[in-house]
Amino acid sequence: MEKKKEKCSEAFKKLSLITPGGVNSPFRSFREVGGETLFLSHGKESKVWDLDGQSYVDYLGAWGPAILGHAHPAVVKAARKAVDSSAVLGLSSIWELEMATLVQKAFPSMEMIRFVNSGAEAVESAIRLARGATKRSKIVRFEGGYHGHGDSILWTYGPEENHSPKESGVPQGLADETLIIPFNDSKGVKELFRNREGEIAALLVEPVAGSMGVIPPVPGFLETCRKVTEEYGSVLIFDEVLTGFRIAFGGAQERYKIRADLTCLGKILGGGLPAGGYGGRRDLMQHLAPLGPVYQAGTFSGNPVTMQAGIAAIQSLAHPKVYKQLELKTEKLLAGFREIADRKEIPLQTPHVGSMFAIVFAVHPVKNFRESLKIDGKRYSQFFHGMLEGGFLFPPSATDAAVLSIAHSEKEVEQTIRAFSKLQFT
Ligand SMILES: Cc1ncc(COP(=O)(O)O)c(C=O)c1O
Repeated sequence: MEKKKEKCSEAFKKLSLITPGGVNSPFRSFREVGGETLFLSHGKESKVWDLDGQSYVDYLGAWGPAILGHAHPAVVKAARKAVDSSAVLGLSSIWELEMATLVQKAFPSMEMIRFVNSGAEAVESAIRLARGATKRSKIVRFEGGYHGHGDSILWTYGPEENHSPKESGVPQGLADETLIIPFNDSKGVKELFRNREGEIAALLVEPVAGSMGVIPPVPGFLETCRKVTEEYGSVLIFDEVLTGFRIAFGGAQERYKIRADLTCLGKILGGGLPAGGYGGRRDLMQHLAPLGPVYQAGTFSGNPVTMQAGIAAIQSLAHPKVYKQLELKTEKLLAGFREIADRKEIPLQTPHVGSMFAIVFAVHPVKNFRESLKIDGKRYSQFFHGMLEGGFLFPPSATDAAVLSIAHSEKEVEQTIRAFSKLQFT
């Protein structure tokens, strides 16, 4: 039995009265795994604490941003200094230049960059830009992927699958502009572009799918996306909100050696503060206001605190050793899990790319959304609650990516494996 979390429970009940579902983002809800969402009070290095004072080794990583662990000294120092000089200025600042230059070094395809405040905003803005630049309206995206909650690409995403666009609040006309095919289906991509010649503004892809179990691209898939978009004059948008600065310093584009036309970033970008960014080919980016007719703006875009925190975070990550070590630790954790699962005769897949991984209770590796529906959610709930009880926090969803940070110690990885070995599955 899990320990009673009185303060968390009381806060959850109260917040549920004034905030739908007691959460400011549905991901935080424990609906899928059962129980009430935790209220966290603070974090330090690899750990977070709940309101009742229990600590957890954190593999949720705030859904991606916490690659340096929590309250990293360089980020804290930069953010404090920035707040002291006013948290918001309203015109351009030198930090935007420094940040853009750093991002460009990691992502050379981003010849020009715009900063926004979230991953969703970055994706929605990139889509508008692609539509404006190509004067076409259709967007191709992959079933079960997640690109934020923007109208243009919400349809159809995972759990909302059975809802009609109308009841989801997405205009039918906009849903009709979204063409959805299975992830990793190179043949499907080619056929779709052939059948819709001249209609498709952009192909939007998470290079490693992060919301249906971690699904790496099969060999040739991203290359096909690149080739076909080029051939048909469409824009290739890489949604690297999760993979950017995560699976390599230069994200999927560095890892798979593919150059996107537009790239969307978020999560790690702001060092834990709310940031997003999008950028790419100069000729495309020049369609943006004030240079061109595609409008996108933001009071807080390029905010000085976010920029300075982000600069500190990115500078701390800019060493090849960082990514090597992250990957080795992740492999150690997952090898430990697999060994135990084998011993217990529990079917387990542990897909990972760099330090982005998933604990997938399934017999076979998952290659797309339809296959992800076969994941054993009940077993994941047992895993989630068992690990939580032992002081280890994983995503409260069987299909969302878990992550590891540079702050996780070898000892903590071993403790996590030991905790997994003690779990009882029914
Ligand atoms: C791949 C991907 N794109 C976009 C988003 C949206 O980012 P944000 O939650 O910052 O709006 C997410 C968030 O989980 C994501 O994983």
